[in-house]
Order: sequence, then structure tokens, then C-alpha cells
Amino acid sequence: MTTEEFDLEWLDLREPFDAFARNEALADALVAVLPARPRLLDLGAGTGSLLRWLAPRIGRAQAWTLVDADRLLLEAAFDTIADRAEQVGYAVTVPNKRTLLVHAPGGAWRIETLVADLVEAPQNLPLPNTDAVVCSALCDLVSRAWLARLAAALRVPFYASLNVDGRDRWMPPHPADAAIAAAFRRDQARDKGFGGTALGPAATAAIAATFAARGFTVRSAPSDWLARPRGAAHPLLREHAGRFLTELVLGHAEAARAAPPRGHARREAWLDTRLDQIAIGNLAARIGHRDVLALPGKPA
Ligand SMILES: C[S@@+](CC[C@H](N)C(=O)[O-])C[C@H]1O[C@@H](n2cnc3c(N)ncnc32)[C@H](O)[C@@H]1O
Repeated sequence: MTTEEFDLEWLDLREPFDAFARNEALADALVAVLPARPRLLDLGAGTGSLLRWLAPRIGRAQAWTLVDADRLLLEAAFDTIADRAEQVGYAVTVPNKRTLLVHAPGGAWRIETLVADLVEAPQNLPLPNTDAVVCSALCDLVSRAWLARLAAALRVPFYASLNVDGRDRWMPPHPADAAIAAAFRRDQARDKGFGGTALGPAATAAIAATFAARGFTVRSAPSDWLARPRGAAHPLLREHAGRFLTELVLGHAEAARAAPPRGHARREAWLDTRLDQIAIGNLAARIGHRDVLALPGKPA
């Protein structure tokens, strides 16, 4: 079983939808318990989308280690973080080949990368030098056993953003929506290389149960993707809604092709209808996600 690969263009396309979806109250609760100069470990960091959203919210000097198996995504992370920082007027320096420094007003962000296969985690992670372990769009890929090993090794906050929860709603509805959703859920449970069935929509409940059993206090909150060509919360979301919806629809249809042959024609008709609706700006979708925060210890 090999590592699930993620396309750079897809990560780029989803970034603004992720940013508007993440739950701010839960992130604030994480930020409130971090020390003066927090060290964060971002698992499955991709191109650093979570850092770009969370670092300004932390708003003070901080250090990040971005972990991913894909070296090219991590290289793109340095370039993207540097470009976006310069766009908002922050100086960027590179004190050595492994480190990027973003000179943000509240204090510098020190960023390093670690190419590592998370299947072997937590053994290959620098946990003793970490004040919080964070991730985004990772936990629905992992297995229950993997999560249990991670929880057993952690004594610091764990923040897992954007876990799919299976509450998908297409607007307008289509008679084949339920069949497509069932096929998509089956695909989400496919082993993604983490030693067992992927958690998919069960991720939030699995994190809550696993970390609570280790004495953590766990909270979760909705962080749904909203894709709609009209009435979007930001011009970027409006501009990219068509492309984003197209990727979602194609992804669902692809998953549906692995379903049993019965009902195939109906599922293909779903795809044609959805693509036609996107072309005339007549499709919107809400894709259910939840963010989770697990803090060590019982509530005060
Ligand atoms: C859905 S992407 C999320 C990326 C990023 N966190 C974001 O929110 O944009 C999942 C990430 O997990 C990484 N990944 C998947 N399996 C992995 C593994 N076994 N070891 C390390 N990274 C892995 C992928 O390379 C990808 O960057």
C-alpha cells in the first residue's frame, strides 16, 4: 500500500474554501492554551495551507515543522508561504537551506520541513520539541489503530481541522444523490496506507473517543465547505466555485464508478446533470466537515 497522493493544484484550489470553512472559535481555544513561543508540528502539511491560516491567528513568534511524505509539496510550501507573506508586506529570510523565517509584525515564524512517512508515526516525529500537534484534512485518511498510537504518545494539544463527516448536500437535489453519497462513503473507507480502513466520516467520533480515553478533553465544531456561484462569502470563493464544484462532482462520480454495475447509468446521468448545472451557475454544495480540538487533562 503506497501513500495517497495529493495534487498540488487541488490543494491550491481548496485552500480558500478550507480557510472559510475552519471553525474560528475552536482555533481560538487552541491558541489560548499555547505557550509564549509555541512549536507546532503539522502532520500531512501539504503546501502549508493550515500554517497560512493559523499562524496569523497565533500572532506571535512561533516555530512550525511541516511533515509530509511528499517532498515536492513541502518544497511548494516554502515557496507559497514566502510569496503570500511578501504579498502582505512581511519580510522573508532563509537563514539556511532547511529554514524559512517570516518576519510577521507580532514575531517571526520559523518554519522547517520534515519529509517522513506518517505510517511510521509517532516514532519518527520530534514530539519532545512540540507544544501542539496539528493537522488539516488528514484524519479521515488514517485508521483507528494509527490514531490510537498517536493519542498514546501525545501529552500536548491535538488539533485536527477539516474531517469529513458525510453530511453532504447538493443544491438542487437529484434523485441519485443518495446512491452517489453511498458510493463516495465506501471509497472514503478505502485503506489509504495507514494500516486499516480509513476513518472517513467516522474520523471526528474516533478522535473524540480515542483522546477522551487517554484523559484529553475533546471539543468539536462544524467546518463545512460551502461552494456556491452566487452569494459566496468572498470574491475568491465566487471566482473558483465552478472549478471547485467540478472537482467535487468528478471526484464523487469517480468513486461511484467503483460501485456495483447496477445503477451505473443513473450515476452517470447524475454526473451529466451536475456538470450541466455547474456550466450555468446553477449548482451549490455544502460538504460536511468538523474540526476537533483535544486538550490534555480534564476541564478546569
Ligand atoms: C488532503 S491533503 C491535506 C494537505 C494539507 N494539510 C491541507 O490542508 O491542505 C493530505 C496530505 O497528507 C499527506 N499524506 C498522506 N499520507 C501520508 C503519509 N503516509 N505520510 C506523510 N504524509 C502523508 C499528503 O501528501 C497530503 O499532503
